[in-house]
Amino acid sequence: MVTSKKIYGLVGYPLSHSFSPKYFQKKFQKEKIDDVSYELFLLENINLFPNLFKNNPNLQGVNVTIPYKQTIIPFLDELDESAKKVGAVNVVKKLKNGQLKGYNSDIFGLQQTFDNILTYFPTQKPKALIFGTGGAAKAVEVCLNDYLIDFQYVSRQSTKENCCQYENLTNNILENHLLWINTTPVGMYPHNNQCLPIVYDVISPQHFLLDLIYNPEETLFLLEGKKKNANIQNGLQMLHAQAEKSWEIWQSNC
Ligand SMILES: NC(=O)c1ccc[n+]([C@@H]2O[C@H](COP(=O)([O-])OP(=O)(O)OC[C@H]3O[C@@H](n4cnc5c(N)ncnc54)[C@H](OP(=O)(O)O)[C@@H]3O)[C@@H](O)[C@H]2O)c1
Repeated sequence: MVTSKKIYGLVGYPLSHSFSPKYFQKKFQKEKIDDVSYELFLLENINLFPNLFKNNPNLQGVNVTIPYKQTIIPFLDELDESAKKVGAVNVVKKLKNGQLKGYNSDIFGLQQTFDNILTYFPTQKPKALIFGTGGAAKAVEVCLNDYLIDFQYVSRQSTKENCCQYENLTNNILENHLLWINTTPVGMYPHNNQCLPIVYDVISPQHFLLDLIYNPEETLFLLEGKKKNANIQNGLQMLHAQAEKSWEIWQSNC
């Protein structure tokens, strides 16, 4: 039997941590959207991406997660301004002419999160440390620039400007940057016992630790902050906001 069900989904590797399928299934049920499904597409290699749309004619769009938000770009026909601005794609839409267009909805998800975080810094904007230099980090960078927040990257290997390697991270830097943002997958399910190599003893109650991971709810990174009475937030608010924006993109006429 030929099915006309529209398919959406998530592309990445691994995918066992993701709450996106659950989020969309609940949304479809709640809003009585019954002609669609949301599926997982585990791709071991991004070169397999073009076959995904060829083999699944009902596939209308996908979300993109680790580690493909940047490497997917050469496989797309067009990029929206949001994706150009960030340099990473987390939403792909099949256009009416069959071409694939990339968007970035992570920045929309992050805006709500930063609106919340800044209420904890009413008198002076904090300086931020971004741990990791991948696709999500780029969206964080765009938002921090929009909010006029000074930041520095921390990376295992990148030598780009404004980037410090973990071994060169001094206590002084850690103390003076009150907003720490984990954009790495370190500590994500099923590797809940992993933690970034940082001196956590310097955390004060004035610090705010944001982890983009939402599974587990509290990573070791966040628990270190909690132990020192810092404010903490996980990535669930961002996940929900970027998922809603993804749906809006897929349903729009353009
Ligand atoms: N809540 C949400 O809605 C949401 C949205 C987007 C992403 N996320 C989460 O954010 C995380 C990153 O996603 P992404 O798409 O940006 O991934 P990505 O493009 O693969 O980038 C991850 C970055 O983390 C660093 N990294 C990777 N493995 C590491 C390790 N073992 N130790 C230290 N650093 C490591 C790397 O930076 P260096 O090489 O420079 O060290 C890498 O560029 C994932 O956990 C993802 O689930 C959440």
